[in-house]
Amino acid sequence: MDNIQIIKGNFFDCSQDMELRARTGAYCVVKDGISEGIFDELPEKYAGAPVTDYGDMLIMPALVDLHTHAPQYTFHGMGMDLELLEWLNTYTFPEEARYRDLEYASQAYDIFVDALTRSGTGRAVIFGTIHTEATLLLMEKLEKSGLVTYVGKVNMDRNSPDNYREETAQSLRETERFVEEALSFRSTFPILTPRFIPTCSDELMRGLSAIQKRTGLPAQSHLSENRSEIEWVKELVPDAAFYGDAYDIFGLFGGECRTVMAHCVSSGKEEIERMAQKGVFVAHCPNSNTNISSGIAPVRKLLDAGIRVGLGSDVAGGHSLSLFDEMVSAVQVSNLRWRCIDQNDRQLSMTEVFYMATRGGGEFFGKVGSFDRGYEFDALVVDDCGLAGMIKPDPAHRFLRSLYLSHECLLAAKYVKGNKIL
Ligand code: GUN
Ligand code: FE
Repeated sequence: MDNIQIIKGNFFDCSQDMELRARTGAYCVVKDGISEGIFDELPEKYAGAPVTDYGDMLIMPALVDLHTHAPQYTFHGMGMDLELLEWLNTYTFPEEARYRDLEYASQAYDIFVDALTRSGTGRAVIFGTIHTEATLLLMEKLEKSGLVTYVGKVNMDRNSPDNYREETAQSLRETERFVEEALSFRSTFPILTPRFIPTCSDELMRGLSAIQKRTGLPAQSHLSENRSEIEWVKELVPDAAFYGDAYDIFGLFGGECRTVMAHCVSSGKEEIERMAQKGVFVAHCPNSNTNISSGIAPVRKLLDAGIRVGLGSDVAGGHSLSLFDEMVSAVQVSNLRWRCIDQNDRQLSMTEVFYMATRGGGEFFGKVGSFDRGYEFDALVVDDCGLAGMIKPDPAHRFLRSLYLSHECLLAAKYVKGNKIL
């Protein structure tokens, strides 16, 4: 017997061409966790199926976080007075080194998973640390949460502190073990995670590429985030035509290897063309880029090139796990880029940014990020009654306002793959 549930309320999502769609007082039919589509009237054949009626609340696809760091949640909102390389050495590496201690890791990851579960995020692509055991423990906790995630054991074998670095062969062996053990989860998937070029030797990259070819696993890393980092990569991989080429040389840049690169603040024409050609996803992380003074990514150019762009909270460069907060920043920094940096980079609308936070990042997971028939039913139910006032906006304006003012709204429910997890 098929498992059918009906959700009733005001639905908002984006079409493939980034148009906002509003369906008020409508019904979404969910069969085995998959949307059968939205109907103004409930079709006769579903009469008798259980209906959950969310009244006048707003229902949108659960948000997708394409880039965050679970172990950095312990210091979110702190230590953002430095630029990337100093920030890594001063705050980040010393904190991540602590996850060797499983007791510490367990407590910290309980707090992280709880916060992510209570947030508007339904799916996330996550960095762990270099420690296999702690990263598997994080995955166990995520598996129980009902969220759907990719999680990576981080690789770093150079330019890292002595207490937070692996030997190359050990890093590869541990990655193999990590992948093998992680394959037992159902909603928590392994992803290859070379931290970034400065901490990964050529030999390590070649080894990871061999694992990728054997397993077909996706990959995540950082790209063109900060000027000093980019200059350093030129020295470290002199044969690379540009930063992204240094990943491509090793076969970890799209194509057969589904890849998400965070940041791309300073990606030039060649890098953008290569990412488009190889189908690389970009995780745009405006809060992080602002907090640690990295810059403003040329998102309009990325979109115009046909690149799939999602949003990333990048905690703890980003101060918050809230993708609502990230959406507001994405719009704001795009206004500044357009006005202060490049008048060809027309600013992003809230609807475009909402697309990135849902369908854009959702594509990394498959058919995720809309209520179209055939898409996995991930949803947030938002009660915006706290915003009621003299003005009665039309449904689209009411919805877009709730994205700006999420902190004044209530998250009433969250569904992932048809399961109510909040
Ligand atoms: N580049 C390499 N590691 C990191 C990290 O942890 N955060 C950010 N924002 N960039 C990085
Ligand atoms: Fe990051």
